[in-house]
Amino acid sequence: MKTTTQRAEKIFSRIDELAAITEVPGGITRVFGTTEFLEGAALVLKWMREAGLEARVDAIGNVRGILRCADAGARTFVIGSHIDTVKNAGRFDGPLGVLAGLDLLEELIGSGRPAPFHIELIAFSDEEGVRYQTTYLGSKVVAGHFEEALLERKDGAGITLREALEPIHAGMPELPAERAGATGAAQAGGAWTSDAIMGRLRQEALAPGSWLGYFELHIEQGPVLYERKIPVAIVTAIAGQLRAEIVFRGEAGHAGTVPMNMRRDALCAAAEFILELEKMALGSKGGIMATAGRLDIENSAGNVIPGEVICSLDLRSADQSVLDLSYKKIREVCQQIANRRNIALEWRLLQESRPVSCDPELNALLGKAVRAAGYEAVELVSGAGHDAVPLSLVSPVSMLFLRCFKGISHNPLENVELEDLAATIEVMDRFIHQLTELWKYQP
Ligand code: HGY
Ligand code: MN
Ligand code: MN
Repeated sequence: MKTTTQRAEKIFSRIDELAAITEVPGGITRVFGTTEFLEGAALVLKWMREAGLEARVDAIGNVRGILRCADAGARTFVIGSHIDTVKNAGRFDGPLGVLAGLDLLEELIGSGRPAPFHIELIAFSDEEGVRYQTTYLGSKVVAGHFEEALLERKDGAGITLREALEPIHAGMPELPAERAGATGAAQAGGAWTSDAIMGRLRQEALAPGSWLGYFELHIEQGPVLYERKIPVAIVTAIAGQLRAEIVFRGEAGHAGTVPMNMRRDALCAAAEFILELEKMALGSKGGIMATAGRLDIENSAGNVIPGEVICSLDLRSADQSVLDLSYKKIREVCQQIANRRNIALEWRLLQESRPVSCDPELNALLGKAVRAAGYEAVELVSGAGHDAVPLSLVSPVSMLFLRCFKGISHNPLENVELEDLAATIEVMDRFIHQLTELWKYQP
């Protein structure tokens, strides 16, 4: 029987091995559907199979491993997180939850005490939404809430999601024939139609009635646990999000000849908007978080007045009414700036997700496990989104946060202490044991 520290060390070494698979040498970047993403998925698939799970890559690129119980009709408890990353990411955001879940299943298999329900471990393929500006592609498919229109979303190179799926489908020779669907079409050179793809994606959903629940371990990505010197926290809710793209259209011009008071400078308009956005969020005293994380200046050059700028907007709140009100207010402010500067505006709402509450019953068990392991059962709301958001439409969800260095995330400085992970493993062991006890006699 390995100690929790030994198990934590193994998880760390796998996290490092996965982190080494990157689109950008020297940093960690593995966005949905790239060659490196598929390589990372293949590595996780290998580990799942070596652990003895019935594992495969599904039609949206999720890596899924099942530990079946003896009762074929039993429901399924899902454990997961994501293996796609932001650009220049940290190595824990996502993979930690997948590889800690894998460790838990390895221990269960090794103990010879299988749970009285199926357990499915899922490495979700696109939680961050970096490539197609829409998150949760993998978990939306598993939840059965994938919208067909997403197939036509284009990435920065003009490649649609539909096209990005082909290598995933084509690369799944081990698919059982009856599940081939679009894959068969793709391999047989058949029509790669939305119907064929949607048919295939619909087969990947875990039916609403068959879920027992969902659990995800994730780094906090915030400073609370680090400041309070506490290793873990139970997540009570996940903030709602609105993500949009705003196009500011002015007039490109010569930097040396157009008088300052005659310019329609799209970048100055966007800059004024971004500072107003920051002011509004600061004024909300934590009620909302607002970020303009991406700014594209079309045909940018030092001696050209920017004529067109695309600015991203990421707005979050745990309170839906606050989120709606803030979005409405910031649109009005933006329009006033544009009117005053004679700039045309185009708003594109890219995605929105409502605040999600985690399941009180699962959280009560999680709290018992945390206390039994000797820690204070701190509760936190997650400002970050997680795959639990779409899954909450079909299943009770639960999340455990793990302290990370100064709360830093989406940054190569992201870090976790070995002893904190060892403590978390003990909590997760206790949690799964309690679930087993609770559901021993529930079909
Ligand atoms: O942006 C988020 O909330 C998460 O990291 N995808
Ligand atoms: Mn994450
Ligand atoms: Mn993230």
